[in-house]
Amino acid sequence: MSVAPVESIGSLNSDIFYDILRRLDGPELASVACTCAAFCSISKEESLWENVCSSVWPSTNREDVKTLISSIGGFRKFYADCFPLIVNKEVGQYQWNNFLDYPDDWTEAEYYGDTNESESISPLDFVSIIDIRFKEKPICSKVLWGIPNANGSDGWFHNCPFRIDLLNYADGDGNSDGVVTLSVTDGLPPITSMERERKDGELWLELRGGLMLSWIIVNTKMKQAANLASWSPLDGLRHWPTDKDFILRFGSVLPAKNILPSQVVQCILIMKFTVVHTEEEGVQTSLKLTELSMKLEDMEGAHVNGRNSLLILKEALSCRRSKNYSEVLESCHMYSKVANELKEVKMRNESWLDTLCILTGITAFMTFWYCVL
Ligand SMILES: *[C@@H]1O[C@H](CO)[C@@H](O)[C@H](O)[C@H]1NC(C)=O
Ligand SMILES: *[C@@H]1O[C@H](CO)[C@@H](O)[C@H](O)[C@H]1NC(C)=O
Ligand SMILES: *[C@@H]1O[C@H](CO)[C@@H](O)[C@H](O)[C@H]1NC(C)=O
Ligand SMILES: *[C@@H]1O[C@H](CO)[C@@H](O)[C@H](O)[C@H]1NC(C)=O
Repeated sequence: MSVAPVESIGSLNSDIFYDILRRLDGPELASVACTCAAFCSISKEESLWENVCSSVWPSTNREDVKTLISSIGGFRKFYADCFPLIVNKEVGQYQWNNFLDYPDDWTEAEYYGDTNESESISPLDFVSIIDIRFKEKPICSKVLWGIPNANGSDGWFHNCPFRIDLLNYADGDGNSDGVVTLSVTDGLPPITSMERERKDGELWLELRGGLMLSWIIVNTKMKQAANLASWSPLDGLRHWPTDKDFILRFGSVLPAKNILPSQVVQCILIMKFTVVHTEEEGVQTSLKLTELSMKLEDMEGAHVNGRNSLLILKEALSCRRSKNYSEVLESCHMYSKVANELKEVKMRNESWLDTLCILTGITAFMTFWYCVL
């Protein structure tokens, strides 16, 4: 009987290696891959990364998404592009004093960017891949091909505030046909009265602590992908405006150099849950997902229009990522801080101008009567 001992030992070994590697999550796999040559070559195996991706993003189990990922360079690259989050540290250096002069020294062409460039970016090339988890358990996956209402190059989309509202447009196959709910079986604390919740905020704390969002945007032509979400919520509003809504904000800070005067914008991802049935004997609270949306805002809180949004999303695909999560959060909070300071300065300035106007008015009034009398 002739066997090829060396080869079979080799393949046995690599089976074992493979089996070990298969059990690792993404960051572990990436660091093990650097430790030795054998691991390194095996860890290039696409199926390992396919496993990792499907556990991080359940939406990558869909056949259409698998085909998409293969067409833009495979699962390993997809993971490397989308697991680390976008970080933008230029916010701190942002000179908002100069910004107060805007928009006088910006021509319309500058403001809207290179029109040739924006025409070459088609909204149809963007795909959004969204996954929500609550306490590690996937509760919702959605995939959106193209950007809704961004048909052709008509001015309407380009000049109106950009917004993607996922619950209205996501294609309805798979389990996405409708309502996403969270209940006690998903790990929500049993809230029997809104009165109590208003006081202790137990439900709110669990929601804020347990929800994770990933919003990946892919450009099929550029073959690049990026995660625009912050995994966990950046902040939120409770009981607003109807006392039954829980609004959570996720997002990132995106570069807008040569696109907008503010140089950076904020990508705001809103997730809203609304309380369904409470205050009844024996009925446990459950929550329904009622909004899942994306918009971009500049430093002043103004919405970014469709044309500039496409340019910014395109830039976002190739900007710096970081595996250091605290660094990412730091840059998001820094943005909010600078934006709030800017708002305050503007408000102070405006009220100062108002006072000046009133004083001038009174003076004019008194002078007038003084002259008349
Ligand atoms: C835009 O395209 C036109 C023709 O396609 C070209 O003549 C013009 O130079 C381009 N402008 C810029 C700024 O690239
Ligand atoms: C707009 O989109 C619809 C469906 O997606 C398509 O049939 C139509 O041709 C598009 N129109 C333009 C002007 O691109
Ligand atoms: C992560 O970022 C924080 C804040 O920027 C920094 O203090 C820390 O040293 C970084 N950690 C690593 C491992 O780079
Ligand atoms: C208020 O705005 C004016 C111009 O609109 C500017 O000259 C002035 O410096 C601003 N004041 C402050 C306190 O920012």
